[in-house]
Amino acid sequence: MNVLVIGSGGREHALAWAIASSPLLGELYCAPGNAGIADVATCVDIGVDDFDGIVAFCQENSIDFVVVGPEDPLVGGIVDRLDEAGIKSFGPNAAAAQLEGSKGFTKDLCADYDIPTAAYGRFADAAEAKAYLDKHAAPIVIKADGLAAGKGVIMAETDAEAVAAVDEIFGGKFGGAGAELVIEEWLEGEEASFFALCDGKTAVPLVGAQDHKRVGDGDVGLNTGGMGAYSPAPVLSMSMQFALMDRIVNPTLAAMAEKGMPFKGVLFVGLMITKDGPKLIEFNVRFGDPECQVLMMRLMSDILPALVACHDGTLDQIELEWNDDAALSVVMATEGYPEAYEKGSEIKNLEAAAAEDGIEIFHAGTQSDGKKTTAHGGRVLAVTALGKSVAAAQSRAYKAVDAVDWPEGFCRRDIGYRAVAREKQSA
Ligand code: AMP
Ligand code: GLY
Repeated sequence: MNVLVIGSGGREHALAWAIASSPLLGELYCAPGNAGIADVATCVDIGVDDFDGIVAFCQENSIDFVVVGPEDPLVGGIVDRLDEAGIKSFGPNAAAAQLEGSKGFTKDLCADYDIPTAAYGRFADAAEAKAYLDKHAAPIVIKADGLAAGKGVIMAETDAEAVAAVDEIFGGKFGGAGAELVIEEWLEGEEASFFALCDGKTAVPLVGAQDHKRVGDGDVGLNTGGMGAYSPAPVLSMSMQFALMDRIVNPTLAAMAEKGMPFKGVLFVGLMITKDGPKLIEFNVRFGDPECQVLMMRLMSDILPALVACHDGTLDQIELEWNDDAALSVVMATEGYPEAYEKGSEIKNLEAAAAEDGIEIFHAGTQSDGKKTTAHGGRVLAVTALGKSVAAAQSRAYKAVDAVDWPEGFCRRDIGYRAVAREKQSA
């Protein structure tokens, strides 16, 4: 089977790396890929939003299956375009991708099908939004409806901040993504992420994973795409995972099928574990980055037939086996991220760092001229380790991080601290 992976991040490197070991694989390509992905796939210079280019490449290179990594092309309808061309792919079509593409769509679905989530209001008009704020005091959360590269959520601690957020969003701060907004209750608790493969009717849960969104140690500072992740996530006990399938994932699949928009692909359930039980914060319709990196490290089964089964509607025949070991991924980013940063700094000693036992270094924003590897993104590397415990994976990952010679890079030094503390408590 010839496969094309779409995307250029650490998530896509991890997917390509896992797919590369499939006995079913013929040729593996990635568009556009990066310097690390080039070790396992042929990278082709086609942008993730160049749908014509992607379809033409598939036709010219006998691609049998396309794996779409990021949300933008999914929400934009890449799967619909591939379907029209008779090319199989992994991911939801544009209608089903509304689960990530429109927060209002998802909130209404939760309300209609009794799926637990924060209380909310949905508005296309500033005066009505402010009238709602008059009745619901801060702290409160204001969200642009559409995709805003993870930046469209404003946690308003005061009423004045809430009103300002409404004005900013309707004032165009997030462009078209802010034509509508959602105002919702501020949930207290511990966040977790849960993933399930879906084929429109059946869902197969993956193991739990948790990421760290804030840029600074101790979970402080600006929000990022994710500075690290680990799996398993102790907060997602077996009974919690059953509850999540029963209360959130299966009802969502049934609801989407009933609406004539069967969901296929991976459903990423962003959760708050509150004192009243788990509540949905948001759905994403693709793997998390860097959660995908830890999931792929622990997955022992061939991933390719599982991804194809999501398309074919045959997930009921798939069972996934996981390594009992823990995995932990530390993101190394360019100094300055998530704000402005320089491009082009050289990263040395990558090969030696990656050669350590139980280590994979997944690349995100790297380029190579054959001699030098340079950094061209905010998040640049995801240094990922397996270990007998989260603590063991953590110390291995940081040993490899310390072996990377990149003065312009930085990372958090505390990835996995909650899980490590829990392991100590129960030891
Ligand atoms: P989202 O882009 O919806 O994942 O939101 C980004 C982050 O904002 C989440 O990971 C949470 O930390 C936080 N967040 C979003 N909605 C809420 C909420 N209703 N209550 C508390 N925190 C929230
Ligand atoms: N790490 C969170 C995300 O991929 O959205």
